[in-house]
Amino acid sequence: MAQKKRKILVIFYGLPGTGKTTACKLFAKKLRDCYFFDSDEYGKKTDFFRGIDFGSSSDEALQRRRMEFYMAKADIIGNLIEGNACVALASGCDRKEYREILYSTAHRYHTGIMMVEVACPDNVAKKRMMENKGHVSSPEKRWELYQRMKQSFQPIGLLEKWRHAIITGSIRSEFEVASQIDELIRKRSLEEI
Ligand SMILES: Nc1ncnc2c1ncn2[C@@H]1O[C@H](COP(=O)(O)OP(=O)(O)OP(=O)(O)O)[C@@H](O)[C@H]1O
Ligand SMILES: [Mg+2]
Repeated sequence: MAQKKRKILVIFYGLPGTGKTTACKLFAKKLRDCYFFDSDEYGKKTDFFRGIDFGSSSDEALQRRRMEFYMAKADIIGNLIEGNACVALASGCDRKEYREILYSTAHRYHTGIMMVEVACPDNVAKKRMMENKGHVSSPEKRWELYQRMKQSFQPIGLLEKWRHAIITGSIRSEFEVASQIDELIRKRSLEEI
C-alpha cells in the first residue's frame, strides 16, 4: 500500500539579502505540490512595520506587538499547511521566539520541518543589495541592517534543529542554486520512504 506522504513545512532562513526568497520560490516551483508563502509580501501588507516609533516605544510594547505579528502569521501558515502537502517560506528566523511559534504550528498539524540555511559571503550580499534598487528600503539601509544582524546572528543550534527538523540543509547562494535545490528535494523524498 502506498504510504501517505507526510506534510512538510520548509523554512529558508538566514541574513537579509542572502537569497532566501529566490531559493524558496525555486524550490516551491520545482516541487509543484508546494505552496510558496511570500513572507516578504506578508510583512509589507501588515501594519506591523508601519506606525511604530521604535525609538519611543517601550521594549515591552514592541515585544508584545511583535509576538502578535508572529502569531497572526503562524495562523495563516497553519491554514496553508492544512490545505497543502508542502508549504515553503523564507524568513530571517533570527528570533528564537518566532522559531518556536513556527515549530509548534508544524507540530499542531503533524507536519515535518525542513530547515534550510541560506548564506553567501558578505561582499556578494552587499553587491546584490547595491544593484537591487527595487526594494522598499534603500541599499545602504539594508547593508547596515545586514551588518547589525550579522553581529548578533546566532546560528540555529544543531540541538534545536535535531529536536524539531526532520531534515536540514543549506544553500550557498554564491554558487549555482538549482542543483542544490534538487539535492534538497531528493533529501525530502528519501525521508518519506
Ligand atoms: N543565487 C543567486 N544568484 C544571483 N543573484 C541572486 C541569487 N539569489 C538572490 N539573488 C539576488 O539577490 C537579491 C536578494 O535576493 P532575495 O530577495 O532572494 O534575498 P532575501 O534573502 O530573500 O532578502 P530579504 O532578507 O530582503 O528578504 C535579489 O536581487 C536577487 O535577485
Ligand atoms: Mg526575502
